[in-house]
This record gives sequence, C-alpha cells and structure tokens, in this order.
Amino acid sequence: MSNNSRVTVQKSKLQYEDQKMLRGLRICGLRGLMLEPYTSSVQVFANYASTQPSTNIQKLPRLPVPKLNDTLSKWLKTVKPFLNDEEYAATTSLVKEFEGGVGQKLQALLEKRAGKHENWLEDWWLNTAYLEYRDPVVVFSSPGLVFPFRKFNSQEDQLRYAAKTIIAALDYKALIDNDKIPVEMMGKSPLDMAQYKKIFGTCRIPYEKRDKLSFNDTKHITVIHNNHIFHVDLWGSDGKRLNVDQIVQALKKVVDLSKTPSSEPIGILTSENRDAWAKAYQLLSKDKVNRDSLADVESSLAVLCLDSAAGLWQCADDNARRNVAAAQTIHGGGAPANGANRWFDKTIQFIVGADGVTGLTYEHSPAEGQPIAVLTDFIIKYIEQDKTGDTPSSGPKEPARLQFNVDSEVAAMINTAKQSLDKLVANLDLNCFKFDKYGKNFIKSHKMSPDSYLQMAMQYAFYSLHKTPGAHYESAATRMYTGGRTETIRSCSVESVAFAAAMLDARASAHDKLAAMRAAINAHKDYTVQALQGFGVDRHLLGLKLTAIENGIELPKLYSDPGYVRSAHMRISTSQVACKCDGFMCYGPLVGDGYATCYNPRDDDVNFATAAFAAHPDTAAARYRAALERALADMHDVLLHSARSKL
Ligand code: COA
Repeated sequence: MSNNSRVTVQKSKLQYEDQKMLRGLRICGLRGLMLEPYTSSVQVFANYASTQPSTNIQKLPRLPVPKLNDTLSKWLKTVKPFLNDEEYAATTSLVKEFEGGVGQKLQALLEKRAGKHENWLEDWWLNTAYLEYRDPVVVFSSPGLVFPFRKFNSQEDQLRYAAKTIIAALDYKALIDNDKIPVEMMGKSPLDMAQYKKIFGTCRIPYEKRDKLSFNDTKHITVIHNNHIFHVDLWGSDGKRLNVDQIVQALKKVVDLSKTPSSEPIGILTSENRDAWAKAYQLLSKDKVNRDSLADVESSLAVLCLDSAAGLWQCADDNARRNVAAAQTIHGGGAPANGANRWFDKTIQFIVGADGVTGLTYEHSPAEGQPIAVLTDFIIKYIEQDKTGDTPSSGPKEPARLQFNVDSEVAAMINTAKQSLDKLVANLDLNCFKFDKYGKNFIKSHKMSPDSYLQMAMQYAFYSLHKTPGAHYESAATRMYTGGRTETIRSCSVESVAFAAAMLDARASAHDKLAAMRAAINAHKDYTVQALQGFGVDRHLLGLKLTAIENGIELPKLYSDPGYVRSAHMRISTSQVACKCDGFMCYGPLVGDGYATCYNPRDDDVNFATAAFAAHPDTAAARYRAALERALADMHDVLLHSARSKL
C-alpha cells in the first residue's frame, strides 16, 4: 500500500492517553454517509440525504464520477476470470455497444446529478444498500463485535462491567460532541468524520418498502434483561451524570424487576424481515402506551443487553469461545437464548453476558465500522484504567419498565419471529479463530501490503476448495470525499486466479509461486488505491443503473450479461476491521453459497471471523477456515524459501 492510501490519525487537543489509543486504530467498515447535522435534543427522521441541508463542514471534495471508458475497461478486466473466451468476446462487444450508445446518455445524466448533489451516491446508497433491503438486519446486515472475554464470578461483576461500559461510552460521546475525535487522514487527505455523530441516539424504524432513520440526543439508555425493556436515566435531577456505583444500583433494580423472562418478548420482532416487522410496528403503534414505549427505545442513546450465560467457560478452547461470543453478538443465540433480549434497530447495542461474553451489535445503515471500532478500543482501555472516581449525582430516578399492550395478532407475530430467528441461527455456520503463526510484521518484512496479502490468501483458499474463481468483495473507504462511504475492491483478478493455480501446481517452482504471489498482491494493491479514490467499478455502474431506472430508460443489456452477474455474485465477502484489542467483528455471508471473512490483522497474529450458510451443500466454514490456514502456511513457506535462497 502506498503512503497515499494509508490512514493515519492527526494529533489534536485530546488527552495524551486518548490520543495514544486513537492513533492505534485503523480504518474499518467505512460506508459512512452524511445525512444531516447532529441536532441536539431534537429528533430528526431522515430517509433521503437530499432532503437534508448540506453539511460539508470539512470542505471535502465531492465524490467524482469516473470516466465511462475508464470504468468499462477496468470492469472488463475484472469479469475475465468468470468468462470463457467466447463469452468474453460477447461481453466485450456489449461493452462497446454500451459505451457508444446508451452509456453516454446515462453518463451525462449522472454527471448532471453529481453537479447538484454534494455526493451523488449518498442517498441512493443509503436506500439501496440498507433502508430498502427487506431481509432481517440480523445476520444479513448488522455485524457483531466481540470484545476480549471476561470472567464474571457474580452478577455484581457483570453489572459493574456493564456500568463502566456505559460510562466509557458516554465519555466517548462527549469527545464526539465536542469535536475532539482527531480527524483521520489518508495520506494528506482528511477523511469525512460525519458518521461519528450518527452512532449514539440513532434508531432504524421499520416501514413497508423503505425504513427510516431517527436521530436523537437524550439522557437515557434502554436496558433489556430477561426480554423486559427498561428506561434508565443516566443523569440525576441536579443535571450531573450518574457515577459507576449509581448505574450499578440502577441495573440491580432492573434485574430485581425482571427476575423471570417476559411472556411478551417484544424485542424479537426487530429480528424479523423488515416488512413483517413494519406491519407489527403499525399494529403496535395504534395504542398510545405502545407508541410511548417505542419512542422511548428509539430516542435512547444506546441499548444495553444484560444477557443470560452463554456457556462461554464451558467451551473446550479459546476458538470455541470465539464462536459462542460471535453468535451472541450477531443473533443472540436464538429465541430460547438471548435473541429476544435485543432491539436490533438500535445503532449500538452493548452486550454484557452473565458469564463474560461482552461486545456489541451495530445496525449498519447510519455508519461504518470505524467509529464503532474506535469506541471498542476506547471502552477496553477505559475499563483497564478503572477510572471510576466520579462523585455521585443527586436525585437519580428509578429505572422504569416500558409497557407494551400486545394483542393476539402481535402475539402471533412474536411467535413467527421466534421461529424465523431460530431458523437463521441454525443456518449460520460460524468459525472464528486466531491465526497465531504470524501477523502484519512478517508480511511487511517481505515488503508486501498485509491487507493485499491476506486478501490473496482468501482467494487461494477459495480456489483450492472450489477449483473455480470466487467473486470477492472487500470494502474500501471513500471518506476522503464528503459523505463518502465505500467502494468495492474486486479482489478476484486474472492475477489472483493465476496465483492460486500456481500454488496448487505441483510442477511450479518456488520462484514461480513467488512471482505469481507478488503479481496478485500488486494487482490487488493497485485496485485498492483506485477504489479508495472512488475509481472502482461497482459504485459507478450502480449509479448508471439507478440513473436508468429513475429516468425510465430501459435497463441496458450489460446488467444481465453473464460477466456482470457472475462477477457480482460475491462468494467471498470480506472486510478488514482493525482494533488494537484482541477483539473482532463478525457477520454472515452475502450470498447463499458464499463465505464471510472479517479480519483484524495485528502485529503478530490475525483474528478471523468466517461464516457460511449451513443450508448450502457446497460451503462449510470449517473447511474454509482449514483452507485459509493452509493458504497462509503455504504462502509463508514460499516467502521463507525465497529468503533462504537469497542467503
Ligand atoms: N511494504 C511494507 N509495509 C507495507 C507495504 C509494503 N509493500 N504496504 C503496506 N505496508 C504497511 C503500511 O504502511 C501499513 O503500516 P502501519 O501498520 O505501520 O500503518 C500497514 O502495512 C497496513 O497497510 P495495508 O495492509 O496495505 O493496508 P491498510 O491497513 O491501510 O488497509 C484498506 C487497506 C483497504 C483495508 C483500508 O484502506 C480501508 O479502506 N479500510 C476500510 C475497510 C472497511 O470498509 N471495512 C468494513 C468494516 S464494516
């Protein structure tokens, strides 16, 4: 990776410790977008960025519209691995026809749109990638983030840890509110920081066809225990924030008021298909008591889930614990476990389980993983430092259980939601592990980009299992532009396939393998640099497609060409989410016959979270993990062999 594409953090007025912590972070899920300015104590609904005032406070450049011929020639290169010679010739002539015909018209219309919007993609992306997506947010959209494991010996331990998590989160929010999070940099380019202001107080609200986002700034959180939902104030009547002991007291009260599981686990509805949940939401909203309770959850700063034990310390080893914790943060283990102890629409849900599973689930639509990964390291460091000396506030209010009137129709929907979630849980095949043989340092010592190297290991692993190229999605941040979210890095290339084939070829020499590895890594790195600058192919082609749809223009044949379809069927869905602590992010695959791979590369090890769908006969997370570990070992051997031969 060239210096240009590296993300560093600029020094600012932060305290020294905070600076040290934040500097260690690398950029992650950056699909960040800017909807509107953060509004204090006001609730704002948004489903269209264009309806909001322009907020380019940082005066960042606008997302460019790439040139049509550049995108098309780049795209042709990316589809080559998926086509035979005859198909490739047909696709090439289709591209020529598109470029000389309707493509030009669409390009002109798109450029016109770009002239009118701060970011031509922003609202389109929010809607198509998130708010109009009808599958459940659970597994399909919301990642889990697993914190390092804890061993709680008592409920007091659990509640104290939870209280510290909340205090740490509030301190982090204060940094955000006061613009004290250092502006991240990519080379000399500052990155859009707007998404940091969208993670607290935000909630997705279900509507038929397209959901909405609700942004709020309040002084309470939602606590869920035994599937009962509570309003917990974090400030006393003197206007002072509660200290850790006072929050522990409030949480004890919550636990006392909810000793047995609720017979109406309303939160499970948020795990449903979005249209089904929207229907239940409309029914619930007919009743004023329900409307008030829904509004209370939606306006809270975050959710805290006090979970029951998940069997963490009964696991045989650390990797088995990783799978248990990943499952808890992605789906809560289903209806009989903690799956109803959630409000999945909330952007941040902290999870603190009775036996030491800790982490969070985040709803992806308002922001990428970056602010969440920064928050994670902030919390972990904060808890290690044990800063708990605040004086108490006076007049803390008692937690209040939120009431819901559930009629027979909604009760039936709750039952259906339980069954749907349990099916999802059964279908998600997780395999999370620490690869501890080497990390970034070893790869860097061979003058290679760690990210590109790991991506090529995934390409090789997939090819070794399926003997066919795997279309492969990696997120690249486009936050150097105002409202920038992500571009796709197409990691599958002619070079990556040649590399995988060389590694599997018994006749290929170590020298040949090394040459193929370097070529594949360089091709990936080149594409990465372009994607970070907004010059990948996927967002541009999406923009042209949506332009056609909006203008009533027949969808060009290019969009049904086998090259288009196969290269976009992302069988390997990946992202680097780096945090300093020994945590990791995890999520489900993008397609039925695919794999998910989220990874946290650290100096001397890499945390991987892989997943497949159990229902698909061709894929299994354990097989993929084994192939990935083999690939990493083989690549290591090739590098060591070449180093030895130079001696
Ligand atoms: N030789 C030696 N060192 C090299 C090198 C080379 N050829 N190439 C890169 N390096 C170094 C870099 O300088 C960097 O060093 P540092 O750790 O000291 O800062 C390190 O290796 C890592 O660089 P690299 O692995 O190349 O890339 P990256 O960490 O910058 O990540 C992306 C690249 C694409 C992942 C990142 O830019 C990005 O966009 N992240 C967003 C990911 C995302 O959206 N995730 C979704 C989460 S929901």
